[in-house]
Amino acid sequence: MADGVTGLMMRPMNTSDIPAILEIEKVSFAVPWTRGMFEETLASDITISLVTEEVGRISGYIIFYDAGPEMHIMNIAVHPRQRRHGLAFGMMSRILAFARDNAIEECFLEVRESNVPARGLYKKLGFRSIGRRKEYYSETREDALVMRLSL
Ligand SMILES: CC(C)(COP(=O)(O)OP(=O)(O)OC[C@H]1O[C@@H](n2cnc3c(N)ncnc32)[C@H](O)[C@@H]1OP(=O)(O)O)[C@@H](O)C(=O)NCCC(=O)NCCS
Repeated sequence: MADGVTGLMMRPMNTSDIPAILEIEKVSFAVPWTRGMFEETLASDITISLVTEEVGRISGYIIFYDAGPEMHIMNIAVHPRQRRHGLAFGMMSRILAFARDNAIEECFLEVRESNVPARGLYKKLGFRSIGRRKEYYSETREDALVMRLSL
């Protein structure tokens, strides 16, 4: 696949990955997902949870669900030590290719307005902002930008 990350190894997440994922989650988000939230997504039939590993350690993960013609990104993070090496771009490129292969027509996500790295990532992938959810992040009363990519 011509995404510049041909060597990227992704595999399905499993419950034994959760402790390492929670470590990344805690240093990545103001309001991290809990163990229960990861367990719930792993048990769900409509969500797909994938991880990347480097020398046997989880370096990143992505969780999304596809609902007929739409795909929604629910979570994506990369270990701080492995950021800016194209990992998130690679994970996103892979799942967007999966979406195209599966006749999914559009991809949606929400992002904090202040999240410059994530907004840069999504812009680079071609996402466009289509709206705003006022005070979506209740703990900081920050707005979410809703972004969409037509596939
Ligand atoms: C957002 C995040 C997943 C990006 O992961 P990453 O592997 O470092 O991203 P990549 O190296 O693939 O970068 C892809 C593009 O994103 C943008 N980007 C990434 N980090 C950036 C930063 N710190 N500042 C500005 N733009 C950034 C750039 O456009 C970059 O392309 P470039 O390297 O050609 O400039 C990572 O910073 C992270 O885990 N953040 C905390 C969790 C989070 O905010 N998740 C998103 C929730 S909506």
